[in-house]
Amino acid sequence: MSTTDRDEMSGAETTGHEWDGIKELNLPAPRWWLIVFLLTVIWGVGYMVVYPAWPTLSGEGNRGGTPGTAGWSSYSELSDSQQEIMTRRAAYLADFREASYDDILADPGLFEFARAGGGAAFKDNCATCHGTGGAGAPGYPNLNDDAWIWGGTHADIEASIAYGIRSAHGETRVSQMPAFGDLLSAEEISAVTGHVLSLGGGDSSTPLGAQIFSEQCALCHGEAGHGNRDLGAPNLADAIWLYGGTAGEISTQIRSPRHGQMPAWSGRLDADTIRQLTIFVHSLGGGEGAEDSGGSAR
Ligand code: HEC
Ligand code: HEC
Repeated sequence: MSTTDRDEMSGAETTGHEWDGIKELNLPAPRWWLIVFLLTVIWGVGYMVVYPAWPTLSGEGNRGGTPGTAGWSSYSELSDSQQEIMTRRAAYLADFREASYDDILADPGLFEFARAGGGAAFKDNCATCHGTGGAGAPGYPNLNDDAWIWGGTHADIEASIAYGIRSAHGETRVSQMPAFGDLLSAEEISAVTGHVLSLGGGDSSTPLGAQIFSEQCALCHGEAGHGNRDLGAPNLADAIWLYGGTAGEISTQIRSPRHGQMPAWSGRLDADTIRQLTIFVHSLGGGEGAEDSGGSAR
C-alpha cells in the first residue's frame, strides 16, 4: 500500500492505515480545532508575560524567576494573608490583655482566640509530659478530669503553670511527703496501706491502719483522705492515682515517696501565652469556677 491510496466513497487521500477494511483518511485538522489550538498558544505566551513563569539563569528577579507584568506572586499572596491574620490577632490580643478570665469566658470570639492559642502552645510545651490531649501518664496528672492536686480554678491553674511545681522558681508550689520507710515498721506500713485502700470503699482497714492514718497522714491528706490542695496532697479516696492504686504501688509511695516536678513557665513563655494555656487547660473538662475552689479538697 502507498500513502497516495484514495478512498472510493469520499475520494479523499488515505494514510494507508487500514483495520478490517476501515481506512484512515488523510484530512487536515478541522478549522475550529486549529483556531482553538492557536488561541491556547497565544494565551500561554500571554500568561508567561503577565505572571511569574520562567526561572532566570542568574537566579535573580522574583525569587529566581521572571516576575510577570501583573506583579502577582503566590509569595506576596501568602504574606498578605499572614499580615491579615496578624492584624486580626493584634485586635484580639488587645482585648484579651484587658479581659479578666470571666470576661473571656463570656465572649465566644475571645474565648476561641485564647483556646486556639493555648492549644498550640500546649502541643509545643506540655504534651511531652501531659500527653497530646492532656490525659497524662503515671506520675503526670490528667488535666482533663476534675481531680486536681493543686486546684482547678483559673487562678490555681495559672499559678501551677507560671511558677511550676517543686521547680526552681521562687514562688513555686512545693510540698514534701515524708519517707515513712524510715518512720514506720513494715507491719505499720502494710496496715496503713490497707486503710488507704479502704478510703474509696472496701473493708481492708484495721484499727491500727486507721490510727496511723489519722496520726501520720490526715494532717496532709485529710481525715477522710480527700486531700488538701494547699499542700498538693492528692485525694486518696477517689479512683485516680498519680503513682498507681494497687497495694504494692501505694506502699511503695508510703515508704519512699516520689514527688512530681514541673518546670515554671513564667520567663520561658510570655504572660499572654500562659493565660491562653490557662484558658485551654481549664476548658479541657475539669475547669472549676471560683466558688468550687477547694470544693472536694477538704
Ligand atoms: C517535664 C514534665 C512536665 C511538663 C513539660 C509540663 N508539666 Fe505540668 N505537671 C508535671 C507534673 C509531674 C505535675 C504534677 C506535679 C505534682 O505531682 O504535684 C504537673 C502538674 C500540672 C498541673 C497541676 C495539675 C493539678 O492536678 O493540680 C497543671 C495545671 C499543669 N501541670 C499544666 C501544664 C502545662 C500547661 C504545661 C505546659 C506549659 C505543663 N504542665 C508542662 C509535669 C510537666
Ligand atoms: C506533709 C504532707 C504529707 C503527709 C504527712 C503524707 N503525705 Fe502522702 N502525699 C503528699 C503529697 C504532697 C503527695 C503528692 C506527691 C506528688 O504529687 O508527686 C502525696 C502522695 C501520696 C500518695 C500517692 C497518691 C497517688 O495519687 O498516687 C499516697 C498513696 C500517699 N501520699 C499516702 C500517704 C500516707 C498513707 C501517708 C501517711 C502514712 C501520707 N501520705 C502522708 C503529702 C503528704
